[in-house]
Amino acid sequence: MSRQTQAIIHADALLHNFKQLSARAPTSQSMAVVKADAYGHGAVNVARILQHVSSRFAVAIIEEAIALRDAGITAPIVVLEGAHQAKECQMAFQHNCILVMHCEAQLQWLDACPKEMRPHIWLKSDSGMHRLGFALDDMPNIVERYQHLLSDETVIATHFACADDVDNAFTQRQLDAFEKVVLPLNFPLSLANSPATVNWQDSHAKWNRLGLGVYGGKVSSIDVSDMPLMPAMTLRASILAVRDVPQGEGVGYGQTWTASKPSRIATVGIGYADGYPRHCPNGTPVMVRGQRAQLVGRVSMDMITIDVTDIANVTIGDMVELWGEHVAIDEVAKCAGTIDYELMTRVSQRVPRIVKYL
Ligand SMILES: Cc1ncc(COP(=O)(O)O)c(C=O)c1O
Repeated sequence: MSRQTQAIIHADALLHNFKQLSARAPTSQSMAVVKADAYGHGAVNVARILQHVSSRFAVAIIEEAIALRDAGITAPIVVLEGAHQAKECQMAFQHNCILVMHCEAQLQWLDACPKEMRPHIWLKSDSGMHRLGFALDDMPNIVERYQHLLSDETVIATHFACADDVDNAFTQRQLDAFEKVVLPLNFPLSLANSPATVNWQDSHAKWNRLGLGVYGGKVSSIDVSDMPLMPAMTLRASILAVRDVPQGEGVGYGQTWTASKPSRIATVGIGYADGYPRHCPNGTPVMVRGQRAQLVGRVSMDMITIDVTDIANVTIGDMVELWGEHVAIDEVAKCAGTIDYELMTRVSQRVPRIVKYL
């Protein structure tokens, strides 16, 4: 029997989450963000599952768009980082992609591109995150000078720095600053990611860009149980050994955990090479036989060890949930000192993605 380490991708959860988030913004159109292999869920699978509800997709880079085209996805694709090189303008045209242009160099590449090979573009404006985008004050001038590169598909977009935090007034400041400059320019707008879609109704515009929420991640600093999202990934692995460890004995590399009483330790076939974070400390929760157990000892490359002393009948072959329906990925992320986005995207290619349709 081969190793049972798997990421189960729940098609019903993806559809449910996308519909919930879209319904939260009924006056907007929503597109699923499937960059970074759909946050580790498998971009082609996710796009195939969502293509009847998401009329567009967003990726970070053109290579991600081309991979979707090669798999037969036909919906327009928005490339969030625009072109990294001049040649990507023509590539975008050939693959029916929309480039989000954030700097003048990109606009000049497009200007140099033969007219009949120019893709549609969006313009990205920096409303305060200071990562990408034209300064707000420059926007009127950019629109005027590059009018000939714009089309009825052109949208002016921005991105929020803190939209998950409902108590952080910075989102409202970004929104106000953006609208003040951009509304008079009379273009359709795109502001909201999934946290903003949930937490900041005033940010809903023509297009919302839904990432984390589609995958069931935590999109708000407050409880949003009026809009339950379902985890779209269950990461699981099987037990490959069970042993009794006497009181006082250490477990794993560096002996970072010592049995305080006679203990039963199960070894599970997943490690940091699979994307289970090495930073997870003793006590990180897992689920086995319907009960919570705890990680003990250091995460190895291919294995972890868990304490199953208080769980009856644990045996070789039992499946262990690392995160998913019973162990929230956000909880594991907190234990590892990171965020759910990182855990999702780091599940390695060694872990087969198994799509479960219900
Ligand atoms: C420009 C842009 N828009 C939208 C998203 C989707 O954001 P989220 O996953 O928080 O919904 C991202 C993700 O990082 C992004 O970079």
